Amino acid sequence: MEDKIKQIKADIEAEMVKADSSKALFELRTKYLLNKAGIIPGLMKELGKAAKEDRPKIGMLINSLKEWASGYFDKKDAEIKALELKIKNEKEAVDITMPAKKREQGTLHPVSIIKSQLIEIFAGMGFSVLEWPEIENDFYNFTALNTPKEHPARDKQDTFYINEDFMLRTHTSPGQIRTMTTVKPPFKVLVPGRVYRADDDATHSPMFNQMEGLVIDKNITLCDLQGMLDVLVKKMFGSDTKTRFRPSFFPFTEPSVEVDVSCFECGGKGCKLCKNTGWIEILGGGIVNRNVIINCGLDPDKYTGFAFGLGLDRIAMLKYGVNNIHTFFENDVRALKQFKD
Ligand code: DAH
Repeated sequence: MEDKIKQIKADIEAEMVKADSSKALFELRTKYLLNKAGIIPGLMKELGKAAKEDRPKIGMLINSLKEWASGYFDKKDAEIKALELKIKNEKEAVDITMPAKKREQGTLHPVSIIKSQLIEIFAGMGFSVLEWPEIENDFYNFTALNTPKEHPARDKQDTFYINEDFMLRTHTSPGQIRTMTTVKPPFKVLVPGRVYRADDDATHSPMFNQMEGLVIDKNITLCDLQGMLDVLVKKMFGSDTKTRFRPSFFPFTEPSVEVDVSCFECGGKGCKLCKNTGWIEILGGGIVNRNVIINCGLDPDKYTGFAFGLGLDRIAMLKYGVNNIHTFFENDVRALKQFKD
């Protein structure tokens, strides 16, 4: 029996060399110890077969083998588990010297920047913002704005028709009609929004952004428009900026004007931006045509007003020196993230 026990010890030690994981070690422990029919518990059967006087000695030998084996397995188990933990920790270790992943910070779209700046300036003068539908009908987009069928001004606004009755608005001016027919004067409103025209080149896009301004009150004159625009351009383009009114024509205003600002690039001396004229056109406006006031159900002898419309994309192009309007709509983040206010 003593030889047998020696052999079992040697077997355990030999097999232990190959047990390279805690799982393999557990299998080995099961094979020798844990399993009731395992090798060491199996020795008890032989105890029964031994001569009576030998039994106490053999029993002691088996017990001490059991003790040795379980101590040996415990020791090896602790070693293997420590090694496994070390490997796991090394695998999961974080290299704090590695460069961190950059978190991209979003920026406002250049047209949104211009829009917010304008709204902020006008809000300081008592304007509020109203948004109206982008799908309009003929009445709001043209007829009520004193542009009846066959009027030549309609040709200038290559219209996208949805069907016989509806179209994509060609300007934000229908916002004037929607406001005058729903809001009781006096009021000062801004109507920003997307507008659509079948026009596409470096300075025109089929979808672009405008902002309409409308003031309706008593005794409004062109001087009010002039004074207010002066405040606007000085805040927007610098305190040295001058404004110039040129007579123009729009069906919905009478008189109508086009407004230029002194070139903020060259200060009026003449450069590429202002095409050597010293001036840059920024908006159209005028005194609201009597017919428009009447079309909205208001009394033209009681109420007068001024209106203006400006292109947000155009102003953004001028201010940021962008020469292709499509830069704003191609959504190339590399281009868009350069614009800061
Ligand atoms: N709606 C005009 C356009 O899109 C711009 C405009 C001109 C608006 C004069 C106005 C205005 O309110 O008074 O070309």
